[in-house]
Amino acid sequence: MRAVVTGGAGFLGSHLCDRLLAEGWEVLAVDNFITGAKSNLSHLANNKKFKFQKADVSKPLKVAGNVGYVLHFASPASPPDYLRHPIATMMVGSIGTQNALELALKKNAKFFLASTSECYGDPEVSPQHEDYWGNVNPIGPRGVYDEAKRFSEAMTMAYHRYHKVDTHIVRIFNTYGPRMRLNDGRALPNFVYQALCGKPLTIYGAILEFAERIRKHFDNAPPIVFEPLPEDDPKRRCPDITKARRILKWEPKVELEEGLKLTLAYFKQVFNKKQENGKVKIENGNPGTANLRLKSSFSKVERENYSRPKE
Ligand SMILES: NC(=O)c1ccc[n+]([C@@H]2O[C@H](COP(=O)([O-])OP(=O)(O)OC[C@H]3O[C@@H](n4cnc5c(N)ncnc54)[C@H](O)[C@@H]3O)[C@@H](O)[C@H]2O)c1
Repeated sequence: MRAVVTGGAGFLGSHLCDRLLAEGWEVLAVDNFITGAKSNLSHLANNKKFKFQKADVSKPLKVAGNVGYVLHFASPASPPDYLRHPIATMMVGSIGTQNALELALKKNAKFFLASTSECYGDPEVSPQHEDYWGNVNPIGPRGVYDEAKRFSEAMTMAYHRYHKVDTHIVRIFNTYGPRMRLNDGRALPNFVYQALCGKPLTIYGAILEFAERIRKHFDNAPPIVFEPLPEDDPKRRCPDITKARRILKWEPKVELEEGLKLTLAYFKQVFNKKQENGKVKIENGNPGTANLRLKSSFSKVERENYSRPKE
């Protein structure tokens, strides 16, 4: 069985490739590296079941051979990324999604869409359940991502209803972990990057508690500063996972504290590499300011396993 993963060089896409390979699939990852990185897939270079194709999925997608599953993960995903690439984001959510759906249709393959909690916009109900339609501003700055994903969902359902493609949509809420980019602008990498540089942690809106949780992992952690919320930023997000629990038997398995340890270890390693290459500036010229306190909280085995992406 062979799966095609669009956005395979990204944070989530690369983990998905690992998982599919571990389950015995052959995998073709397609990516144009607009926000992804070769290093996320370098550990698979000698894996005979893995192939990579550099391509923009917003252009016609040519894939030879059988395909059993198309998993569409390609899209800039962090606010700074999609605000920097507004047209490319709309293209990959619209034409890119149709190209991926066409591939699934031609190959008689299943289709999986990585959608997002951003479909709910700034929600009026909390927690958000699947039947809530959302509160999105189509002409606000975030509309390029939110509306592209809403279009993706509508297009996916059209291929399902009209062409009978076996489609699956998952609305992913904020996810974090190793292989996120330190500078991708989402809350966790942002806080960690600021702390590692010895800069104050910037809070936009109501995530003070989360910032405090991250500060606890640093010696001499920098202070917290408050900034106004960017335009149309959602004020609350919380998934209602009752249905996912019931039908998919899905629920998060990794506690926040454990997840933070694994992710911070990865960020620290990436940061050290950047520092060696002179690519980061430590505030006050004091690299010791924000020493990550990992040794006491991490066993030797964990450190070996998570000190870098598997190779
Ligand atoms: N990480 C999260 O918390 C989260 C939450 C909700 C939804 N999602 C969705 O999951 C998917 C992956 O997100 P991520 O966090 O891994 O982001 P990411 O930026 O790390 O990965 C996205 C990948 O898609 C690639 N890509 C973008 N446009 C492309 C194009 N036109 N052609 C080929 N490749 C293209 C990028 O180069 C990158 O490798 C996205 O669709 C995103 O909307 C992620």
